[in-house]
Amino acid sequence: MLSNNGTSRDGFSSKFGVIAAIAGSAVGLGNIWRFPYVAGENGGGAFLLLYFACVIGIGIPVMMSELIIGRRAQSNAYGSFRKLAPRSGWPVIGILGILSAFVILAFYSTVAGWTLEYIVQSVSGNLQGKSNDELKGVFEGFISHPWRPLLWQGVFMFLTAFIVFFGVQKGIEKASKIMMPLLLLLVVALCVRSLTLPGGAEGIKFYLNPDFSKITWDVVLKAMGQAAFSLSIGMGALITYGSYIQKNNRLTNTAFQITIADTSIAFLSGLIVFPAIFAYGISPTEGPGLAFIVFPAIFAQMPAGTFFAIAFFILLAIASLTSTISVLEVFVAFLAEETKLSRKKATAVGAISIAVVGVFCTLSFGVMGDVKIFGKTVFDLFDYSSANILLPLGALLIVLFTGWFLGRKNVKDEITNGGVLKGRLFLLFLFIIRFIAPVVIIIVFLKSLGLINF
Ligand code: TRP
Repeated sequence: MLSNNGTSRDGFSSKFGVIAAIAGSAVGLGNIWRFPYVAGENGGGAFLLLYFACVIGIGIPVMMSELIIGRRAQSNAYGSFRKLAPRSGWPVIGILGILSAFVILAFYSTVAGWTLEYIVQSVSGNLQGKSNDELKGVFEGFISHPWRPLLWQGVFMFLTAFIVFFGVQKGIEKASKIMMPLLLLLVVALCVRSLTLPGGAEGIKFYLNPDFSKITWDVVLKAMGQAAFSLSIGMGALITYGSYIQKNNRLTNTAFQITIADTSIAFLSGLIVFPAIFAYGISPTEGPGLAFIVFPAIFAQMPAGTFFAIAFFILLAIASLTSTISVLEVFVAFLAEETKLSRKKATAVGAISIAVVGVFCTLSFGVMGDVKIFGKTVFDLFDYSSANILLPLGALLIVLFTGWFLGRKNVKDEITNGGVLKGRLFLLFLFIIRFIAPVVIIIVFLKSLGLINF
């Protein structure tokens, strides 16, 4: 396919297509499932504040760095470094990214599979009129079932592979363009519902009133990890997508727009979840099951609840799908461009190998529940280590590469589209990626691991 970025690579066809596809990658389970459960476990308001700080101080600069690298190199997450820094160690960032893609997709597809089960449960009216305890029972019964969650995980991986199979423009861009705006609409509607629940005020306080005594280095690390996870940064997904962006796209604007869209949806998701859990007496530290108990609880007692439940879980599944395709795409673009595999074969190899690992994540809520590595189940280990270790590490290396290796001229060239744009934020950006972001990430790492003290 000939694209309009002047090469024969596949690419996004319009400005809105770029935004929709990257926002599609960013907005997903990270916003609606992961954000509220991690925020709930880490102090609510204090976490929210740190989260915003990480999004602005680290998220936007890393996102811009990835888009710059990808568009400059016109290659996958590994090939980009090989092109821009031949005969150096930098391509290891690409390898790290591929490892992260593996780890993330393995556990992400577990949860994405849950969304499919919940579509079926909503359609069958099974969740209507149930109490919280009953809904919790439904959830726990389902995730520990010997094969149902595996079936849905398999279906979800198949759907992901199906879209990636057909390539960027036809698959990814189309799916995102229609569904993203719909999801936003529904989230806003649910906010209105949740904010008017009697007894929800306590939840708003928990969420919006920061208790500074709750801030520890561990909470800072979790906020940083969640920001990276939600923005899809630190593993080369946006390097890969950046390589599909036209030369006249304004990367700075794109990064800001996507960050605002992603952060708003996460924030709104909190505004739905926290009033509701306090209104219904659910614990904020419920863990990974939180969203799958709270949202059904909201629908169970809501006028037209069945309709809203069905719409919500369909949109959540699709939001997850536009995220999983971006993760799989990292691996597929790598295989297709760096090995002799065709794109179609690469898709099959990627999806099947990840699905095999994913089985262990799904089973860790059932028969493998007692298998613990570093005190965590396989699912928890993958969830924890991807967001809190792999992505911040990837982000650190990416800003170091962009700030210190890629060169001022190349970076400026990408930000100003070859001198066409003013690039007013260029110096600020350079300062952040050279000094602020790397120093902050390193300090948070060392402090939260207890390796330094001051
Ligand atoms: N950002 C997505 C979400 O919030 C998940 C995701 C997609 C991702 N691509 C990624 C996370 C790349 C890290 C890196 O659901």
